[in-house]
Amino acid sequence: MNLILLGPPGAGKGTQAEHLHASLRLAKLSTGDMLRASAASGSELGLKLKSIMAAGQLVSDDIMIDLIRDRIREADCAPGFILDGFPRTIPQAEALDAMLEAEGKSLNVVIELKVNDSELIARVSGRFSCAACGAGYHDSFKRPKQEGVCDSCGASAFKRREDDNAATMAKRLEAYNLQTAPILPYYAKRGLLKSIDGMAPIDEVTRQINALVRPGVAA
Ligand code: AP5
Repeated sequence: MNLILLGPPGAGKGTQAEHLHASLRLAKLSTGDMLRASAASGSELGLKLKSIMAAGQLVSDDIMIDLIRDRIREADCAPGFILDGFPRTIPQAEALDAMLEAEGKSLNVVIELKVNDSELIARVSGRFSCAACGAGYHDSFKRPKQEGVCDSCGASAFKRREDDNAATMAKRLEAYNLQTAPILPYYAKRGLLKSIDGMAPIDEVTRQINALVRPGVAA
């Protein structure tokens, strides 16, 4: 199964991609994580990517398309993959169709997480993650079970994203509305788009997604 998680910044794409990766054993392709890894490398390209992300703008289509084309050819994508953060523009969506066709693959479903702007801002401003394994948390909605200790790996250092501030979040929302939202009708026309209530608690969103991708299997 090959699926896309679509939604504005903070909608819960990364959180739900992690659940799907664990439950369906599909490869998780998070373009934001890939770009942050490249930025952290300190290379010339990485530094450029870092400043684009810090400004809340989108990285160029050419870079993103090359990144995904190479990634979906890797062996762990053979059983299927979850795209989190790609495509984000119509040219990216068209390029994805072409690369899937060339690989003899196709999309099964595009899941949109619908969340209102005030909730998105609350989610992004409270987000933090484990500095060692990257497991995601939130000040109000998802704290580690033991305060100061990562549930997944037991590490005690946490970090916050540079682009999770009010000014950059406003730019990220603008980029979503102008450049990414037009993808929704692109997939709706082909009957691939399923929209779900991303305002619900995390477990309920997971249940709704499972009902779409594993009908008949209890969440
Ligand atoms: P990216 O890393 O993809 O960021 P984003 O799309 O802005 O999405 P986020 O990671 O902020 O949110 P999310 O939807 O994954 O929510 P999460 O699960 O973390 O991209 C970063 C940047 O990279 C972009 O701005 C751009 O510059 C560049 N980029 C990436 N891909 C690109 C592309 N294809 N083209 C061009 N540029 C690209 O949840 C957020 C918080 O809320 C967490 O704390 C979580 O615990 C909590 N939460 C989640 N679900 C719920 C819930 N249901 N109820 C309560 N809390 C919840």
